[in-house]
Amino acid sequence: MNAPIRYAEALLTGMLGTFGLDIEYVRAEKNTLYYLDEDGAEVPVLDLIGGWGSLMLGHNHPEIVSYAKELLDTGWPTHSQHSSHPVADQVGAALNQIIGRELPGAEPYTITFANSGAEGIETAVKHCEFDRVLRLKTLFEEIEWNADVALKAVLGGSAALPDDTSLLPGEVPAPTTIEEFGALLGAVAEHNIARAGTSPVFFALERAFHGKLVGSLQFTFNPIFRAAFASLGPAVNFVPPNDAEAFESAVAAHRVTVLDVQVVDGKVTLVERDLPVIAGLIVEPIQGEGGIHALTAEFAARIRQICDTVQCPIVVDEIQSGMGRTGKFLASSHIGLLGDYFVLGKSLGGGIAKSSVILIRQSRYRPEFELVHSSTFAKDGFSTAIARRTIEILEADDGAAYDRAAERGERILGMLRELAAEFPDVVVDVRGKGLLIGVEFADQSQASSPVIREKARAGLLVFQLGSYLELAHHIRTGPTASVPTMLRIEPSIHISDQEIEQMRTGLTEVCRILRHQDALPLVYP
Ligand code: F0G
Repeated sequence: MNAPIRYAEALLTGMLGTFGLDIEYVRAEKNTLYYLDEDGAEVPVLDLIGGWGSLMLGHNHPEIVSYAKELLDTGWPTHSQHSSHPVADQVGAALNQIIGRELPGAEPYTITFANSGAEGIETAVKHCEFDRVLRLKTLFEEIEWNADVALKAVLGGSAALPDDTSLLPGEVPAPTTIEEFGALLGAVAEHNIARAGTSPVFFALERAFHGKLVGSLQFTFNPIFRAAFASLGPAVNFVPPNDAEAFESAVAAHRVTVLDVQVVDGKVTLVERDLPVIAGLIVEPIQGEGGIHALTAEFAARIRQICDTVQCPIVVDEIQSGMGRTGKFLASSHIGLLGDYFVLGKSLGGGIAKSSVILIRQSRYRPEFELVHSSTFAKDGFSTAIARRTIEILEADDGAAYDRAAERGERILGMLRELAAEFPDVVVDVRGKGLLIGVEFADQSQASSPVIREKARAGLLVFQLGSYLELAHHIRTGPTASVPTMLRIEPSIHISDQEIEQMRTGLTEVCRILRHQDALPLVYP
């Protein structure tokens, strides 16, 4: 019989097939995915990828499943756009309560809904730019008003002509007549207009991952993903994480000023005003796809200070690190990072729905945004209600789920550290917080085993190791495209001691294979 033609991601599925990973799963619960063997019997696989982080509560959490059924059975409206959505407000209220608890002193945040992480990031970026353009408009209105006031003051005799024009480029003489003053105002306006169109300046961190749509991709560091599409979106300046001085210099390098004409102590005076060109800084408190790297509390405090001085909003991408994964609802809470924006996604959908939210600090929020931004599916009745229930489940029993994420995470990290101590030649680092963990293996591009060496040189060793873990130990792990020597571990809070031991057994074998350069089990698992 011919194999059926693949229409969906045939290349990728084919590549997975070369590693024996093109498995069709037919059932899922907690941390287990099941496929059927030749006899039709279910084979369980321990899922350590956890839906790339969307399964904090595991596959098909019974309470969420039964709530979803209830919504559908009772005819709850999924699509009722342009109507009142109290459930959306309840999600906003619940998230505000959590932020207030974890980041004391935070002001309220409005909530905007989107459908995916990347869309959430693009919505935040779009709002940043909307806010910047409105700040620009206000500045130019003020400048125009002040020029008018100055002209009237000179004409009315209450203000003297300016005697210092040095802020204008070129040798512009100080005006001595009203006509020359008119010409000076014209030169100032021309100078300002030339600068008004300066492109917005966005900052992101090296190794960042913020999505793969044409806008969000510009903020994703890895050139493998971004390079071909760089001309499709805003130019983003990447700065090294945890280096506040580098960020401060980069901000200073982009400073652009315009000129305002003000009456100061009875004399018309040229004054420099900062043009709002800095549109936003976007950060992950713990970088996920980029290799599990945490920001420090010192860096968080410094970027907050620097951004406050230049009115640069900080967009905190908690799509992967949020929803309790690191032992607190927001990973930002560990480092006191107060964002102007927070973006949540992944586990917000309870492992069933697709949604994301953008929380915007009220004092930065532009309500007019609601008139220029929308999506057919965002804030739909089904996923919004599921998000509310997911948050309720996480918050239940004084946030027992967060404590569990922290405790399970420590247990896994403890096991991995023991492994790293036993195999220091093979495991370079074990890092993470809560259930966002990475195991970094030593570079094998000079390995003596040709199989291991060639796979490492092709950047595919983790796929080969993942294949071995899947086929020999029934463990599913994830790669990070940006760190080809890392296995990513993001299970749900249900991970049991027994499953952690299963992980230990599989990973110990992987370490032995690498230590002894014994590629046979990799090829014939
Ligand atoms: N931001 C972060 C921090 C992410 O980890 C991701 C996705 C996104 C944004 C985009 O979200 O996929 O819903 O559009 N990360 C996955 C990963 C794909 O590999 O960790 P999306």
